[in-house]
Amino acid sequence: MTQATARPSARALAVHPAGSNGEFDFPAERVVVLARGTGSRVWDATGRELLDFSMGWGSVLPGHAHPAVVRAVAEQLPSGTNFACVSERSLALAETLQRLLPWCERLRFCASGSEATMYCVRLARAHTGRPVVVKFEGAYHGSSDVGVTSLFPDGSVDLPRPVATSAGVQEAVEGTVLVAPFNDLDATSRIVERDAARIAAVLVEPLQRCIPPVPGFLEGLRALTRRVGALLVFDEVVTGFRLALGGAAERYGVAPDLVAYGKALGGGLPIGAFGGSGEVMDHLREDRLGRPDYVWSASTLGGNPVSAAAALAALDLYQDPATYAHLDHLGVVLRAQLRSVLHSRRVDAQVIGDGPLAQVVFTKEPVVGYRSMLHADRARSRRTMLGLLDRGVFVNPMGTKLYLSLAHDDASCVALAERFDAALFDA
Ligand SMILES: Cc1ncc(COP(=O)(O)O)c(C=O)c1O
Repeated sequence: MTQATARPSARALAVHPAGSNGEFDFPAERVVVLARGTGSRVWDATGRELLDFSMGWGSVLPGHAHPAVVRAVAEQLPSGTNFACVSERSLALAETLQRLLPWCERLRFCASGSEATMYCVRLARAHTGRPVVVKFEGAYHGSSDVGVTSLFPDGSVDLPRPVATSAGVQEAVEGTVLVAPFNDLDATSRIVERDAARIAAVLVEPLQRCIPPVPGFLEGLRALTRRVGALLVFDEVVTGFRLALGGAAERYGVAPDLVAYGKALGGGLPIGAFGGSGEVMDHLREDRLGRPDYVWSASTLGGNPVSAAAALAALDLYQDPATYAHLDHLGVVLRAQLRSVLHSRRVDAQVIGDGPLAQVVFTKEPVVGYRSMLHADRARSRRTMLGLLDRGVFVNPMGTKLYLSLAHDDASCVALAERFDAALFDA
């Protein structure tokens, strides 16, 4: 068979490790190659229609090919796609973000969430002159060394020792990253206070993966970091523009010192942003080059005018007063539908999440942090997710978050629940 006539999944397997670009490793016989998407639906290269609950890992919050985003991109394309310089579009976007996000006095763009969180960590270390970052067990902050530390540890190493999730990381994080339990303020305070003089930042996903913060946790981190002179860094790559226009900071009422955005900001196009006070962000000024507190940041495609145009269009949609009521409503419906299926099938599981996000965790225990998910039945979760895929629902087979979008409706949630019921029965 020539390459052109081979099945798309076979071609993917021949060119990518496990046939995947890293987001989803499907079993070889189920490798998915997508061709197009509209609203809440995608079609694979064989023409099969799938109801999408992954939504570009949450980046396509407006829905696939939203007309306003398509129009904005199409309008920009003939005027140039990248200048690696502040452009009229990126400037308008930066000003809009500065107006909407009071904790972003100054900001810069990059091309991804990974870069945005990485720059926040670097800035915090430079600003405080301290080496250590505290992150939470099970949290993901992108593909940098810090970002993947203690992402899926097996629980055999005691906190706060970091565990590499990827080869090539341990040496980089040993001694510079401490790991704390999410939602446990007492334990986190002990870890931070024991090493207070060396702690540059506490880096947190305010909604960790899909686990909401318990009341007082984020407020406690705010007070703790102030007490020890460290910075509070919010990774809002998932929560930004999704839990509220002002993300988790607005929803949970706690303002960070530094914040990273990505995903939904670009409405499906690549962009990241990071920001904080003028004083902290000034470490990036080139006239400081050569000083010990100078911080390097540069991104060839960060804030390119096409992504900026898409982000401006997406932000227009997000500023519609009905947006977050709709997204919140969908999340409530989805989680209720899933709980009802699990209840009627008498399956021990937790449905967690907030805003337009949900995750099913097959465990009896209430989920408050990474360790309470450690003994969850991940194999069942994967079987169920693959069962959903077989029934025309596009989801992450790892059984992580289900992402809703502006294009979903109650009927999408009901359709998912029906297929979840069938997949659960088979799993
Ligand atoms: C909380 C969080 N931070 C950072 C990232 C990395 O973003 P990106 O994949 O755009 O580099 C992700 C990606 O899933 C994320 O969920």
